[in-house]
Amino acid sequence: MKKLFVKTYGCQMNVYDSDRMAETLAPSGYAPADSPAEADMILLNTCHIREKAAEKLFSDLGRLAPLKARKRRQGGKMVVAVAGCVAQAEGAEILRRAKTVDLVVGPQSYHRLPALVEAAENGDRPVETEFPAESKFDRLPDRGRASVSAFLSIQEGCDKFCTFCVVPYTRGAEFSRPVRAVLDEAKDLVVHGARELTLLGQNVNAYHGAAVDGGVWGLGPLMHALGKIPGLLRLRYTTSHPADVDDELIAAHRDEPKLMPFLHLPVQSGSDRVLQDMNRRHRADDYRRIVDRLRAARPDIALSSDFIVGFPGESDDDFAATLALVRGVGFAQAFSFKYSARPGTPAAVRDDQVPEPVKVERLAALQALLGEQQTRFNAGFAGRTVDVLFEKRGRHPGQLAGRSPWLQPVHAAAPDALLGSVATVRVAMVEPNSLAGALPEAAA
Ligand code: SAH
Ligand code: SF4
Ligand code: F3S
Repeated sequence: MKKLFVKTYGCQMNVYDSDRMAETLAPSGYAPADSPAEADMILLNTCHIREKAAEKLFSDLGRLAPLKARKRRQGGKMVVAVAGCVAQAEGAEILRRAKTVDLVVGPQSYHRLPALVEAAENGDRPVETEFPAESKFDRLPDRGRASVSAFLSIQEGCDKFCTFCVVPYTRGAEFSRPVRAVLDEAKDLVVHGARELTLLGQNVNAYHGAAVDGGVWGLGPLMHALGKIPGLLRLRYTTSHPADVDDELIAAHRDEPKLMPFLHLPVQSGSDRVLQDMNRRHRADDYRRIVDRLRAARPDIALSSDFIVGFPGESDDDFAATLALVRGVGFAQAFSFKYSARPGTPAAVRDDQVPEPVKVERLAALQALLGEQQTRFNAGFAGRTVDVLFEKRGRHPGQLAGRSPWLQPVHAAAPDALLGSVATVRVAMVEPNSLAGALPEAAA
């Protein structure tokens, strides 16, 4: 048996893809390795979204070189494969820059991995970065056990072309998997132990899948169909674009009880001028209106978002508009980043780049505000009860860890028998990023 070590960078779609790639390689004789040192193959599933993410690949490759040399001295072999978005963006350039790499495969071609790996094992250095006509989803390998909370990719690629973003180039044109394929995979995941599904897509609410009734379904109808699967307890989806939030999706937040009251809806900026330069296709007020409608449909919905500070041309006033939007909306959590110029994107070549110290200062101010909001949101749970889906054992013996409906990590003393089920927990302690409590009967 050969051993495969997979390292995943970047977004949840890469997490999903990494599992599928490992499953694709099982028939070639590869079983999971616990560490890179014992592996016969290393697969790095990479992210190109910001410069730091992409550079991480090359520093990791630098560390792998001596491991690979040692393996060779011992008479063995180690195949080093680079997959994912850096593979797509840089292709053969990776082979030139890093002698350690044996094979490069883009995110839409991983179903071709067995043949590519065989070529690499025989001394070739194949590069596969075409967007193939056939879909990698057509021949999904058999799946073993699924985790309690599992990912399910339903949409890929992006046609939005935000001027800062590499995704339309690395993942290709937007496409949706057919409704039947999504429902079949969802049922299969539930049979294998999943109780919560997070539907994934770079732009998941642009979903428009061909349905058996001959029509095309958006995410709203899909949620209701998934909601009927017995044994499935919770549904989530990420990442959404404000311009693609439609009435059916908002209605699903009102009518579909399995759809959790939490939405990650990136806004990027609160300044209309910056949003326009970013080609975001929505204004700050459009975003506020969507939030109002979501809250009218589901009053307890909590919001998360992504922000970029220091986009080219962003002035103090533009940044103040972002802070104003954050104050007005109120977020339960959020991710924020300094703008990173990405090769091949329109914003990268603008001559009004924001100086690094200004980006640093704005990021600190924004994160302080978002941090306060997150703390306040979590503090509101002290003494309350929350429904927790227990996903795994906690750090301490006798403890289980799971998530609240609002995606907060929660741990509580609970028996293993509760793994995979939802139980009510009384919150005793609020930590910065998580909640701790006990089952009410245990507390009594
Ligand atoms: N499809 C999602 C986001 C995908 S990328 C959407 O439309 O919102 C995840 C996040 O990375 C983005 O929301 C954005 O905030 C951030 N990001 C993308 N490109 C970036 C760049 N060049 N510099 C800094 N942050 C970036
Ligand atoms: Fe990138 Fe999202 Fe914009 Fe698409 S919608 S270009 S993935 S930020
Ligand atoms: Fe990164 Fe590609 Fe995901 S660039 S964020 S891994 S789509």
